[in-house]
Amino acid sequence: VTKKTPAAGKLYGVGVGPGDSELLTLKALRVLAAVPVIFVPQKEAESESLARAIITRQIPGAEGKITGLVFPMVRDETRLAPFWERAAETIWQRLESGQDCALVNVGDPLLYGTFIHILKIIQKKHPQAEVEVVPGVSSVNAASAAALFPLASRDQRIAIVSAERDAGFIRETLEKFDTVVFMKPGSILDQIIDIVEEMGLTGQCVYVQKCSTPEQEIVTDIRRLRGKKPDYFSMVIVRREKW
Ligand SMILES: C[S@@+](CC[C@H](N)C(=O)[O-])C[C@H]1O[C@@H](n2cnc3c(N)ncnc32)[C@H](O)[C@@H]1O
Repeated sequence: VTKKTPAAGKLYGVGVGPGDSELLTLKALRVLAAVPVIFVPQKEAESESLARAIITRQIPGAEGKITGLVFPMVRDETRLAPFWERAAETIWQRLESGQDCALVNVGDPLLYGTFIHILKIIQKKHPQAEVEVVPGVSSVNAASAAALFPLASRDQRIAIVSAERDAGFIRETLEKFDTVVFMKPGSILDQIIDIVEEMGLTGQCVYVQKCSTPEQEIVTDIRRLRGKKPDYFSMVIVRREKW
């Protein structure tokens, strides 16, 4: 059993849901109102952040205690690693000084969240750190709800994948699972559309963009999206079984 340093603050990984403030949990609200420091990941120094918008709408005074953590929008882990290291150290400095800190992520922090990388570094470098995760409503659940699109029932298998992969991977995943959720479809939406058509699954998929926000868009005939660049906050869900 690791002995905790009593003076150090506690790190909360807080999921703030997919956009709609009503999908922020009571627990997230309580923790974010109580901590003196809230870290919010953002793309570039000035970029607007969905997580920031969710919490500033709901928590009076949140803006004053937010510190942005800048991560570039690149896939290359070797380029991202120094940013994760720097962010983890910034957070640790605050924890070490005795302050409780929250790191917020859209949706759930342990599903493709930046929090995962920070957690790994903090646990390795500062194993005495006390950490608690407040789960959030993931965008997968919110998209499925918005589109009235069931994710899985009975003995069905579901895969959640980051779509930044090649055609072989997309096809293989669709062959192996009853439902596939393609997060971050950005660069390969056209490929997903082609493969889904080839496999005769066009009528059994949905594209959901910015779900639970006023800009939500749901497209059931995804062929309409060919050639278009999808929003970062979007996903495609495909089911093999006819609904
Ligand atoms: C870095 S991942 C974060 C996932 C998040 N932790 C979750 O639990 O939903 C970012 C991806 O989540 C999905 N996403 C997040 N919010 C969304 C929303 N409001 N509508 C649709 N997709 C969303 C998109 O696929 C986006 O590319």
